[in-house]
Amino acid sequence: MANLPEPFLWREPQFSDLEAVAQLEALVFPDPWPQGLFATEVGQPNRFQRVVLAPSGELAAYLFAAWQVDDLHILKVATHPQYQGRGLATALLQAALEEAENKGGRSLTLEVRVSNRRAIELYRRLGYLIAGRRTRYYQDGEDAYVMSRPISRSLLDRFLFR
Ligand SMILES: CC(C)(COP(=O)(O)OP(=O)(O)OC[C@H]1O[C@@H](n2cnc3c(N)ncnc32)[C@H](O)[C@@H]1OP(=O)(O)O)[C@@H](O)C(=O)NCCC(=O)NCCS
Repeated sequence: MANLPEPFLWREPQFSDLEAVAQLEALVFPDPWPQGLFATEVGQPNRFQRVVLAPSGELAAYLFAAWQVDDLHILKVATHPQYQGRGLATALLQAALEEAENKGGRSLTLEVRVSNRRAIELYRRLGYLIAGRRTRYYQDGEDAYVMSRPISRSLLDRFLFR
């Protein structure tokens, strides 16, 4: 099972979490989703979602993903600047990978700004490969890489990426 670093806790998000989610979203993304968009995701079927809480109850990180046929699409992953570099996004992405494996998925996919080196390196370390580029994908005109992580059941794959 994916390991969350201590002393954090995680669970599925509730509507009451979404104000904090939207605040963190606005802090770390130049083109944040509004709270209402997160509200259309919570409680829907065919989703995988986690919020990570610090011992104080403060929101430290979150991940929202949605199944698109047999691909688990990572819609959002973010960590509060105060808690970055402690393995929270890694743990969230590992949990999404386990979800995809357990539900028989074939891949995980996401979009990332071509300038977002840190996120791109994180995804590479976890086995994601650049599968394409979407021109002017973001509102400010920046391109996105499409990164995809095939789900292989081979021992070599498990050795390399777990
Ligand atoms: C990209 C992002 C999600 C990474 O979150 P994070 O929780 O800091 O990620 P992790 O800690 O799992 O891994 C990131 C780094 O911490 C390091 N790390 C992982 N576990 C660690 C640990 N226990 N102790 C110290 N460092 C650790 C990793 O090696 C990695 O190194 P880096 O500094 O070279 O990147 C975060 O920076 C963020 O929210 N950015 C803004 C939003 C964003 O860009 N989201 C992605 C959009 S596609």
